[in-house]
Amino acid sequence: MKSAHKKLNEMRHLDPLPDMDDVQFKLWVELLEKRTGTVLPPERKSFLVTNIGLRMREIECSSYKEYFGMIAGVNGLQEWNTLVDRITVHETRFFRHPLSLELIEEYVINKKPDPENGQLSVQVWSVACSTGEEAYSLAMIVDQAFKAGGKTSYFGVTATDISPASLQTGREGAYSERRINSLDASMRDKYFSRTEDNKYKVRDYLRKRVCFARKNVLDIAGEPVSEMDIIYCQNLLIYFDRSTRIDIVNNLARHLLPGGMLILGSGEVLNINHPQLEKIAHSRVLAFRRKIEVQN
Ligand SMILES: C[S@@+](CC[C@H](N)C(=O)[O-])C[C@H]1O[C@@H](n2cnc3c(N)ncnc32)[C@H](O)[C@@H]1O
Repeated sequence: MKSAHKKLNEMRHLDPLPDMDDVQFKLWVELLEKRTGTVLPPERKSFLVTNIGLRMREIECSSYKEYFGMIAGVNGLQEWNTLVDRITVHETRFFRHPLSLELIEEYVINKKPDPENGQLSVQVWSVACSTGEEAYSLAMIVDQAFKAGGKTSYFGVTATDISPASLQTGREGAYSERRINSLDASMRDKYFSRTEDNKYKVRDYLRKRVCFARKNVLDIAGEPVSEMDIIYCQNLLIYFDRSTRIDIVNNLARHLLPGGMLILGSGEVLNINHPQLEKIAHSRVLAFRRKIEVQN
């Protein structure tokens, strides 16, 4: 049986895709923005057309209009779930921004047990976790920091994304050698085991700490507030317009524990002016701490 990748490559060489006119392009851009928040500039038209076209070929649909009707219709959810994976960018890697991770290490080392029950715990949220590398990097950093301090502790990483296919890869937690090569050998051996098909699988004890769930970052406003020590949101806001970025940051801030940290991608959002957030002074990491309100 041909692999999906091989099949896709073959399809690229079939008949040219039909032209997508400007009216159709606008409809797709609007749908994408409404459902994912992503603003697709005109220069990304060929990316959109190619990926929609490949999917249409897979399901033997030859008209953008017909396919749009299918996706936008009441029964289009399943197809949308497949397409969204193809038209969003999933680039990621382990330990992508080491300086941000150092800040987390420091936070964990300094975290004090809860005065009421004596327990030491850290909850982390990887917002837009893609295929899981970011979430597992966070789990490794927290695990290491706790172990270095010889502390008995509990931690969990909640990893969310809009793409069901990416989340599934994350849940499986098995990566090729190429994807793992940004890790040094000691980390690799500590946290991964080799599989029969030559992949590196995250060891169970770390995998169990990471919970993957589908969540659209545009929908978090009305959710019950969970109290996170660290919210990590990198390489997502760049796809949104300025006001959506600010709305998302404001909504994420509600989910932080007092004293907790919100870590964004540097340069991804400017002029955050949130009454409960104070900027952490760092020249190369964009991070905020939720203020601890002093009770009178
Ligand atoms: C470029 S990846 C970033 C991955 C990871 N955060 C990193 O920095 O390596 C962007 C991810 O955002 C996800 N995404 C796009 N729009 C989203 C939305 N509205 N809600 C949640 N995730 C979204 C995509 O599915 C993709 O996996």
